[in-house]
Formats: sequence, C-alpha cells, structure tokens
Amino acid sequence: MNNKFEKNVCCIGAGYVGGPTMSVIASNCPAIRIDVVDINKERIEAWNCNDLSQLPVFEPGLEEIVKKCRGKNLFFSNKVEESIAKADIVFISVNTPTKTRGIGAGYASDLKWIESSARQIAQFARNHTVVVEKSTLPVKTAETIKTILNSSEQSDDIGGDDNKKTFSIVSNPEFLAEGTAIEDLQNPDRVLIGGEDDFSINLISDIYKNWIDPDKIITTNLWSSELSKLVANAFLAQRISSINSISALCENTGADIIEVSKAIGTDSRIGSKFLKPGPGFGGSCFKKDILNLVYLSRYYGLREVGDYWEQVVDINQWQQRRISSLVIKNLFGTLSNKKLAVFGFSFKANTNDTRESPSINISKNLLQEGAKLSFYDPKVNEKQIFTEFDNSQEEIFVYDTALKAAEGADAIIVLTEWEEFNCLDWNDIFKIMRKPAWIFDARVFLDKTSLENIGFKVWSLGT
Ligand code: NAD
Ligand code: UGA
Repeated sequence: MNNKFEKNVCCIGAGYVGGPTMSVIASNCPAIRIDVVDINKERIEAWNCNDLSQLPVFEPGLEEIVKKCRGKNLFFSNKVEESIAKADIVFISVNTPTKTRGIGAGYASDLKWIESSARQIAQFARNHTVVVEKSTLPVKTAETIKTILNSSEQSDDIGGDDNKKTFSIVSNPEFLAEGTAIEDLQNPDRVLIGGEDDFSINLISDIYKNWIDPDKIITTNLWSSELSKLVANAFLAQRISSINSISALCENTGADIIEVSKAIGTDSRIGSKFLKPGPGFGGSCFKKDILNLVYLSRYYGLREVGDYWEQVVDINQWQQRRISSLVIKNLFGTLSNKKLAVFGFSFKANTNDTRESPSINISKNLLQEGAKLSFYDPKVNEKQIFTEFDNSQEEIFVYDTALKAAEGADAIIVLTEWEEFNCLDWNDIFKIMRKPAWIFDARVFLDKTSLENIGFKVWSLGT
C-alpha cells in the first residue's frame, strides 16, 4: 500500500468512461491515487503510450490531463487483482451492452462484465470497500452486486473483526457526452449519488467536492439513481427522434426544420438543446439504454410504457432508412456503378467512437444498392471503418483527405458534423466529381446556397 495517498481508488474498465472520468478525478484530487485497470492489454498499452496522440480515446483536453497526472496519481494497468486489494473505493466502469442471446435478447443489458467485476471485487478486496456503479445499469442491479459481495463477506472472514471484508454499494452514474467529456466532467450539470448509508455517500461526494459546487451534488437512494440514468438518456434520445420525425414533415410541407427547431426551442419550457435534426442518434448508449428501459417496463408488466419508449428507437431506425432511400431516389433510383463519398464515420463530431454510428447503417443500405463507397473521417482510421463491413475492398475505400474521397464521386453524403467540412474548398471538390454532383447534408450544417451557387445539387435534411 502506498502511504503517500489519503485514499486509493481502483476503476475497473479503462474505456470511454473509465479513462476520462478517472483522469479528471486524478487531476482534481492529487491526494487520491487512482488505478485504472482493464483486462484488455492493448487498451492499457495505449493509455500508457508515450505518444499522447495514441491514447485509446480521443477527447479534446484529455491528453493534457493524462500528461499531467499519469505516473503521479493516475496509473493504467492490467493488475486488476492487486489494485482491487489495495483500494478503499472501487468504481465499476465496464461495458453493459444489449444481450444478444437468451432471455431478453435484443433488449436487456448483458451484465456478464458487471458480474465478473463484482466477483473479482468479492474475491480480492480487503477490509471495507465502497463499490461504485459507474456503468449504466438496469434498476435493481445493485441488488445483484450486493448478493455477490455479501456472499464473500460471509465466507471470507480473514483473521478477526479488524480485517473483516465488508462492502457498501453506491450508484454514481455518468452523464458525460463523448466529444465534450472533459468539459462535462470538469463542469457537470449535476453529480448523482445514490446509496444506502451516509458514510459511503459522503465518501464519494467528498471526492467530487474537490472541484464541484456541493449544490450540484444530488443524493438519493440506489434505485432512483440507477433509474434516473436510463431515464435521462431516454428523454434526450426522445427529443432527437421527435425533431427527426418533424424533419420529414418539413420536407413535405415547405417548412424548414432549423426554423421550426428554433421557434420551439426558444420556449423556455421546451429549451433549445438536443433539437438538432440529423441522421438519427448513434453512440453506444442511447439505443441500448432505451431498449433496456423497454425491457424493464415489460418485465414489470407495463406493456404500454415499453411500447411508448420503443417508438423512440423505431423512429431513429426509420430516419436512417429514409435518408438512404432519398439518396437512391435522387440518384435516378440506382446506385450500381456509382461512387458515393461518405463524409464522417464517427457517431458525432469530436470523437473517434463509431459505435452505432448512423454512418454504418446508411452505408450498408447504399452498398446493398450496388454503390461503391469512399470514406473520409478526420479521426476514424481505415481499420476501424473496415471492421464494420463484410464487403470486399472493391466496394469500400478509405481516404485520408476529403478531396481524395470525393474524386470521381456522384454524390457526397455528409453524416457527421465535423467542423472541418464547413472549411473545405468546395469549388475544388466540385471540379473533381462526376456531374450532376450531389451533396446530401444529413446534418443540415453546410451552407446550402453557396454550394448550389458552385453548381452542386443539394439535399438538406428537413428543408
Ligand atoms: P467501453 O467498452 O469503452 O469500456 C469498458 C471497458 O471495460 C473495456 O475496455 C473492457 O475491456 C473493460 N472490462 C470489462 N470487463 C472487465 C473486467 N471484468 N475487468 C477489467 N476490465 C473489464 O465502455 P464505455 O463506453 O466506457 O462504457 C462503460 C459504461 O459506462 C457502460 O455501462 C455505458 O453505458 C456507460 N456510459 C458510457 C458513456 C459513453 O459516453 N461511452 C457515457 C455514460 C455512461
Ligand atoms: C449521451 C448523453 O448525451 C450523455 O449524457 C450520456 O452520458 C451518454 O449518452 C451515455 O450514457 O453514453 P453521447 O452519446 O456521447 O452522450 O453523445 P450525444 O451528444 O448525446 O449524442 C448522441 C447522438 O445523438 C449522436 O449521434 C448525436 O449526433 C445525436 N444528436 C445529439 C442529434 O442528432 N441531435 C442533437 O440535438 C443532439
């Protein structure tokens, strides 16, 4: 045990949440030692890479923090057992994807990584350990974790009461969004802490109080905390599906979705955030968390509640099919022997994460119609793009500039709102494309009029 530090924290899971979250805690709490551990060796090597541009997660501001803290009070390793053993607090920040088989397949969360983390904690923890749910979990998961931990409390009394292994459990869901993770962690709207005993709730609150206004720290019980995280994501996603459903109505009526979004968003009861139309929400969480909510509702016999929330996911999928169909229709109903450039592969700007990216489904639909696709994304590499498709290299090309991807293309489909797409030399791009040269702006963020003045045919979502 390193006596230099007031507290030892272990975080299981060095992913998009574990890495940035623990980096920000380390940066604000020099008296706490944080060990971020993962079973994935490659990921840990990348976190320890001297070249900070090779960190496994791209987030604006992350490199600076890792540079400041790594090796001082922030450590990345595969030493799961050792780090649990010396920890006062263990955050569980492992993946909780949708189950692909068995009961609840396609809806319920697969909790096998949570269970294995709980078993590891149960086995290797010493003395009293506060276990923190950082992953997004179905309500009542703390019950499962407690059962696993309690069974070791009973079975592993190591040498008298002083050394007795005990646990308490806290829910502390994470609300960061990728691309703004560091800013969100540094300055969150709120921190939510659910628990059963004041000691543990205060212990976790005290960490956050090192840089967060105590008024922003909401404490509640375990179940409200677990459920609030699912509900927050469902409400956010619901706004996106709502505005996207209206984008289709705009296209048919002469209304403009950006104008409508502004008009409704200025009503302070509605608010302006999360009303940007687009190709549907992507990312690893919205879909899985809503489907989990649907599963839970149906599990408790609330069929109507489940059906209501499932519509949010249905509209999202419909929007992606709709965009693919519109591209095909405008390109004379066929894509065979046509080259289409896809600009943007990450699920949103300022991240290299491609999980559930709308680009994946839309590209697959276009490939099915016989298109050849050339991709350009400022942060997503060729290997990552290829892993999403079974297709041969004759149909898929990945380039390192937008210009190269556009060469000879019949159309460009803009699917991620990377700011650099607004700064491209569209005159040069127009010259090297086959005519008529189309731009499909699924993010409604390019200057339609100036593109039309260059000679492009432009389809802008919701206009
Ligand atoms: P991720 O897949 O990027 O990272 C999870 C990591 O946990 C992986 O590297 C995996 O190897 C590791 N892991 C799994 N089981 C392990 C074990 N037993 N021991 C050690 N390591 C183990 O996932 P993520 O995006 O960081 O998401 C983690 C959780 O946080 C999920 O529940 C997610 O819903 C939630 N969440 C994610 C975001 C986000 O923006 N990605 C935001 C808020 C909440
Ligand atoms: C989302 C939530 O915003 C976070 O609070 C939450 O912690 C996280 O999920 C999670 O639990 O994983 P994230 O998915 O990283 O964060 O990014 P968002 O900014 O929410 O974007 C999600 C998707 O919705 C993206 O594809 C984005 O392009 C799309 N979106 C977002 C829109 O189409 N319109 C909008 O107005 C906002």
